[in-house]
Amino acid sequence: MTARDWERRLYATAHPFAYPLLRAAARRGPIVRVPGVGVVVNDASLARGILMDGEAFRKDGPGSPGELWTPVLGPSVLLNMEGEAHRVLRRRLADLFVPSYTEALCARVLEESLARLTGRLRDGADVDLVDAARVLSGAVIGEVIGLDTRTEAAYRDLFEQGERIVSMVSLRTRRLSPSQVRRARAVLDPLGDIAAKAYVAGDESTVMGRMRTLGLSEDEARGAAGAFFLTGTETVATLLPRLIALLADHGQLPRVAASGGAELLDRAIDEAMRVTTPTPVMLRSVHRRVVVGGVAVRPGERVLIATHNCCRALGPFDLDRPHPPELRRLWFGAGPHFCLGYPLAMAQIRLVARTLLAAGPLTITSRAAARRVLIPTYRHLFVRAGRGTA
Ligand code: HEM
Repeated sequence: MTARDWERRLYATAHPFAYPLLRAAARRGPIVRVPGVGVVVNDASLARGILMDGEAFRKDGPGSPGELWTPVLGPSVLLNMEGEAHRVLRRRLADLFVPSYTEALCARVLEESLARLTGRLRDGADVDLVDAARVLSGAVIGEVIGLDTRTEAAYRDLFEQGERIVSMVSLRTRRLSPSQVRRARAVLDPLGDIAAKAYVAGDESTVMGRMRTLGLSEDEARGAAGAFFLTGTETVATLLPRLIALLADHGQLPRVAASGGAELLDRAIDEAMRVTTPTPVMLRSVHRRVVVGGVAVRPGERVLIATHNCCRALGPFDLDRPHPPELRRLWFGAGPHFCLGYPLAMAQIRLVARTLLAAGPLTITSRAAARRVLIPTYRHLFVRAGRGTA
């Protein structure tokens, strides 16, 4: 296996049975029926068409993510809503994560941890980017929720709590069992209380305070905090080490580090997102009979958009290949449910990546793939600043 195959190994280690099936589905055509799974979509244009059609393809019916998450998050948390109620809440939240706010938030919250990370790299230490990314994304999500304890141990703990919930879900899970719901609520309810406290305090410099100003009720803000926690922690934390590994394995680390400008780094992040697809699939439930790519889908059926297959169709990691329009940010979704946290995720990834690149040249000294995780990633990825052994 060459260094360039690590991404495949991460997927195969996380999902030894489902991953080969997912990739086999891609070889059968742009849209195929897979017994026990549903209608699988492997083509970016078809996927985009489905995501844009919120009437026929919804997140609140049988087999949809709504069915999975409503018992733990409550009924009104965007990712299980549709139609007018969803539009109204999205409109209210439109300005929550504007880039100027998210960039300032990340700079403020991550300053100390990033300075420590840079110091360790400058001292010649082997640094585990998996652990570092967990702490950093725990810090950001802690700030979003309104966590008072600002220590690395608290951030790591927050991350692990989220991971415990997300790991209950596999690519085939349709519903959580009553005991899984109980365990998830035991984590989310106390976090909801922390978020509600920040909401009531109403400080407009905090995310929860801003939600109050934007007209959300306390329950809506509490639900949103839970949704942010579940969708916005592991996605970002897993992407960071994978981004650095992809750049290293394709000999692009020095080039991106030397460029200094935002343009090449953004292209690198987009290309790493395309190849890794931190959200490998998106689910919809069919509400109206429609013909998609020659296949008639029926009400009640489940559609599994294999974002990973859609994105990998363009080929392996290549910083110099442009993305066709149908792929544009598909890893963040499209249409009414497009990732609300996009500016926050990008602000965090850009800042951390810039810091790591500035501490370089980085060399990977040791790595291993993670087992029993929903989002494929490394168990550990140690890097050292300076030219060492790979
Ligand atoms: C690399 C990081 C991330 C990736 C790849 C990602 C990906 C996605 C995708 C694909 C969707 C759409 C799912 C669908 O249509 O079924 C989505 C929705 C969402 N994301 Fe993200 N996300 C990331 C980070 C974040 C962060 C940091 C937050 C917030 C703190 C966040 C909050 C949300 C929310 C609330 C939704 C639901 C929006 C709605 O249904 O209207 N995400 N994300």
